[in-house]
Amino acid sequence: MLKTKNKYVVAVVGATGAVGNEMIATLEQRDFPVDRLRLFASERSEGKTLSFNGSETPVETLNESSFRGIDIALFSAGGERSRIWAPVAAKSGCVVIDNSSQWRMDPEVPLVVPEVNAHDLKWHKGIIANPNCSTIQMVVVLKPIHDAAKIKRVVVTTFQSVSGTGKKAMDELLRQTTDLLNFRPVQTSVYPHQIAFNCLPHIDTFLENGYTREEMKMVNETRKIMGDDTIRVTATTVRVPVFRCHSESLNIETEKKMSANDVRALLSAAPGVVVYDAPEKNIYPLAVDVADKDETYVGRIREDESIENGINLWIVADNLRKGAALNAVQIAEKLIRMAE
Ligand SMILES: NC(=O)c1ccc[n+]([C@@H]2O[C@H](COP(=O)([O-])OP(=O)(O)OC[C@H]3O[C@@H](n4cnc5c(N)ncnc54)[C@H](OP(=O)(O)O)[C@@H]3O)[C@@H](O)[C@H]2O)c1
Repeated sequence: MLKTKNKYVVAVVGATGAVGNEMIATLEQRDFPVDRLRLFASERSEGKTLSFNGSETPVETLNESSFRGIDIALFSAGGERSRIWAPVAAKSGCVVIDNSSQWRMDPEVPLVVPEVNAHDLKWHKGIIANPNCSTIQMVVVLKPIHDAAKIKRVVVTTFQSVSGTGKKAMDELLRQTTDLLNFRPVQTSVYPHQIAFNCLPHIDTFLENGYTREEMKMVNETRKIMGDDTIRVTATTVRVPVFRCHSESLNIETEKKMSANDVRALLSAAPGVVVYDAPEKNIYPLAVDVADKDETYVGRIREDESIENGINLWIVADNLRKGAALNAVQIAEKLIRMAE
């Protein structure tokens, strides 16, 4: 458990990556009570420094004693590093908030989106998991609807940006786009196919049931976060040539009837949600507008006329912020408030 302090020693593991960079920026922007920031990455980054609150902070490599004296460690260095180092960090007495998928479905590890299930932070044992980016933005919208009308089933299709894969994928989209516009042949390395000017119905690896791991994360993580195994979810996840922000089309079937106006009113009052929905004026959430925003934007709210109690909507959030760094920092902020 976190001890009350005026300021905390905070570590970012994976500091040089897409999420790590955003974590450093988020800590700075939210004026998080940082006593000292420690930054970790691979041996490739040895000798690098990164700027935090106006001073250059060295990037270190991990070893068994790295976590001594650290209060909070934000991990975003991939599942394998989390598998090895998160227990080492927790054993050293620091609270780990892990962005990888390594610990998410472990029954001993809470999986938390503060707007939805902050109460689960009470039973952590040193490691707290941050959910998958596409799940986070979905559950902040589903939770108020579930509380009001009990969700029976969700059909979700995602349109996920390349920053969800990390820095190398952002470079690949930029390089392929530049090559194509200059009539040069395209080279692929991060994705199995060209991502520029294309959509790939393939995120993470394929499983025996024909779904991808990303799709099954949306099914299983949603149930764990919402604390309700009866919610049926089916997902199709698609990578699109967008740099930042995931968009999602949701079809939600509820037990109780809700009109589009009921949902609009409900979501307008929901924490972390902005209703941005005036289609007659061409107003609906767009990835280019939501980049760098903290909230999850919702629009195109309408009744599904093909079933009794159904709602369709469109949601967009910044995958590097609410989908990763911001959610992790919000968890840390909640832990501090709980320790007071
Ligand atoms: N991108 C997203 O939207 C998103 C959302 C939710 C969760 N996540 C999760 O967050 C994690 C990082 O994603 P990312 O998108 O930021 O990837 P990324 O841009 O590829 O960054 C990976 C980071 O991990 C570090 N790293 C690699 N090997 C390491 C090692 N042996 N020891 C220490 N650090 C090491 C890298 O350091 P070097 O620079 O030195 O190689 C880099 O800082 C992944 O687990 C991912 O699933 C990502």
